[in-house]
Amino acid sequence: MMKFDFRNPTHIVFGKDRLDELASLIPLDNKVLILYGGGSVKKYGTLDAVKKALPDHALFEFGGIEVNPHYDTLMKAVEVVKSEGIDFLLAVGGGSVMDGTKFISIASKYQRTDHEDLLHDISLSSGVPDILPIGTVLTLPATGSEMNSSAVISHGRAKYVLKNPKAYPVFSFLDPTLTYTLPSIQVANGIIDTYVHVCEQYVTYPADGRFQDRTAEGILQTLIEIGQQNIDEPKNYEARANLVWNATMALNGLIGAGVPSDWSTHMIGHELTAFFGIDHAQTLAIIMPTLWEVRKDKKRDKLLQYAERVWHINEGSDDEKINAAISKTRAYFESLGVKTHLSDYGIKRGELEQVIDGLKAKGMTNLSETRDLSLDLIRTILDKSF
Ligand code: NZQ
Ligand code: ZN
Repeated sequence: MMKFDFRNPTHIVFGKDRLDELASLIPLDNKVLILYGGGSVKKYGTLDAVKKALPDHALFEFGGIEVNPHYDTLMKAVEVVKSEGIDFLLAVGGGSVMDGTKFISIASKYQRTDHEDLLHDISLSSGVPDILPIGTVLTLPATGSEMNSSAVISHGRAKYVLKNPKAYPVFSFLDPTLTYTLPSIQVANGIIDTYVHVCEQYVTYPADGRFQDRTAEGILQTLIEIGQQNIDEPKNYEARANLVWNATMALNGLIGAGVPSDWSTHMIGHELTAFFGIDHAQTLAIIMPTLWEVRKDKKRDKLLQYAERVWHINEGSDDEKINAAISKTRAYFESLGVKTHLSDYGIKRGELEQVIDGLKAKGMTNLSETRDLSLDLIRTILDKSF
């Protein structure tokens, strides 16, 4: 096992009908800015329920944070924070709203006046001595943003990953019933995003992280068990509660501590979203199975462990087991209603060079757990993803 620090300060408030506890978690003299997305929380009553739970706080609102939250929109919220003297940010929504809120929290305290280098500086945590406290009310289980310190922000035609150790939410309310209104494609996206978060911290090379491996395998097996049920029975509390908790635990630092990780699928996927607008999880469903085929030799030991322990494939040669596990993974994503080939999304081969250019522009020329996934290999993966 490799050296690691593990610290996660987020207070999780899990379970249905607990929003009345919100008021006790935000100091009464705080001016609170409630942030939300394109309107689902208005339509389904979550915003009203949140406001009702904070009768004595000074409340302000900022709506319209789009999917893959955009720098320009978020900077408008920063202006509100500054002009109103906001003390606390409350994100009500999915990954895009929570990530956008983290950015606003950091950008509001950013010291420099020129914003040219803001995205760069923030991701290095420099120039930001302090940030505004954040709480979240989760409405979409997927990204783990409710209990981690990362955010993914779009600027121009690019997505940037920010990590700031101060950006953990102070608290997150995880009420599975607030996710019942999700369309089934968003439920499928959430399941696949969670699945791939686990795989990118697990299907690498052996590091004898037995707790991490067995916990990763437990999450994957749970997702396989409850995936279809979550699509077919959106109001099944136990199934949804398990999805919510697995999504949170998949990307809160626990299973990734002390073991290698390979975020290549995510980095390539972010470019596919930036250039073609494909949903985050769908980009992952396209790339990961093909990446495993291309990198089978590098990942051989863990792919075999994955085949045997997660899919219980015990017959055949090692190669046959690995191939069967990759096929089952692809079939699982497809069974949830998510297509796994670039051609399914109307992309043409000639358009893909811009993905390579996007990665190159960000210096992502040696991705993976072994830092040797070259742009040429990524080109091969994209080519085989049709
Ligand atoms: O905008 P509204 O109207 O609220 O609608 C949203 C949106 O259209 C809707 N929705 C959310 N909760 C709902 C609901 N509809 C009905 N009922 C509800 N309860 O769902 C749509 C998608 O929402 P979004 O927040 O964009 O989805 P998700 O949670 O998948 O977040 C995706 C973003 O997170 C980033 C992605 O790159 C992407 O920008 N990620 C963040 C990570 C992190 N912070 O650690 C890690 C991830 O790998 C990911 O990259
Ligand atoms: Zn993801």
